[in-house]
Amino acid sequence: MTSRISLDIAVLKRELEILTTIPDVEVKKAKYLGRSGIITQEFQKLGKLSGEEKKSFGAELNKVKLEVADLIDTRLCALETAKLNSELQAEKIDVTLPPRERKLGTIHPLSYVFEEMVGILANMGFGIESGPEIETDYYNFTALNIPEHHPARQSHDTFYLRSETKDKKKLLLRTHTSNGQIRVMERSNPPFKFISPGKVYRCDYDATHSPMFQQIEGLYIDRDINMGHLRGCLFELLQNFFVGTKIDIRFRPSFFPFTEPSAEVDISLDGGKKWLEILGCGMVHPNVLKNVNIDPKKYQGFAFGAGVERFAMLKYKIDDLRCFYENDIRWIKQNGFRFFDVPRLIDRVNT
Ligand code: DAH
Repeated sequence: MTSRISLDIAVLKRELEILTTIPDVEVKKAKYLGRSGIITQEFQKLGKLSGEEKKSFGAELNKVKLEVADLIDTRLCALETAKLNSELQAEKIDVTLPPRERKLGTIHPLSYVFEEMVGILANMGFGIESGPEIETDYYNFTALNIPEHHPARQSHDTFYLRSETKDKKKLLLRTHTSNGQIRVMERSNPPFKFISPGKVYRCDYDATHSPMFQQIEGLYIDRDINMGHLRGCLFELLQNFFVGTKIDIRFRPSFFPFTEPSAEVDISLDGGKKWLEILGCGMVHPNVLKNVNIDPKKYQGFAFGAGVERFAMLKYKIDDLRCFYENDIRWIKQNGFRFFDVPRLIDRVNT
């Protein structure tokens, strides 16, 4: 039977063979299979045919359409593979060549110090927990023995969110990582020994304050924990952190609503001439324990809160805290750390 279709597959084959670029084949594809292409025009003839003729012409046409599509796709595929191979060949990288320019990045001093501090505390057996940065008034203040209208809220002026929780609780950006204490104690039972590191927020901005900064909260609650343990723990932290530098450490009585007694810890790097405040701490207030259903007569312990920036500034002699967050690549290069210098726990064990 001679084909009623005015299209020659052999011609198409030859046409395709001489095409060497993908766009050319795509043009050809449109010519055959496009909306007003040859095949579509053939299909239009179907309308004029009747019964059996329509059926057999239709079947024949579908077969040809598939054949055409197959030929075109095969050619496209071959050209794409050839293109990819030539690109791969051209872009081949000789990994054995020495680098022409060393463009290794540096580790941001804050990331480095954060790892150092967490490493030392983890080595002392503190687990790591994290609390949410968007927090309710209750976990950030009330549960930590800072009731509404307490003056301590004034020094923690933060950013309040317009939205509230489903049960109409006010939402804010946490002002300290102490919320981690409540979150963890509320969901399990003592003993507790963990740190809660992370970002905190306050309405402050000058050379020593940033609206966002980082803290590490520590909590140790058990049956016989006393102020001696707190002292020992902080000495260990500070002496390891300032390893290689002679430091003096002193505890100065202070006030925090969530600890009683409370203290601030100062260090001196010049033999006691100048003292620099470094962190706050104390024995967890019985009210805080009661708020999480822990009997303060059975359990007690200590807490501390340290600013990561402050540690970094003192150890690496950085004067302006704003530099940490300005993302000036030149500053980061100068003050950053080499990739291979990431503090590891094993280094601590050996020092
Ligand atoms: N949350 C305090 C602050 O941001 C720091 C702090 C002080 C935390 C004493 C403590 C603590 O756990 O015992 O200013």
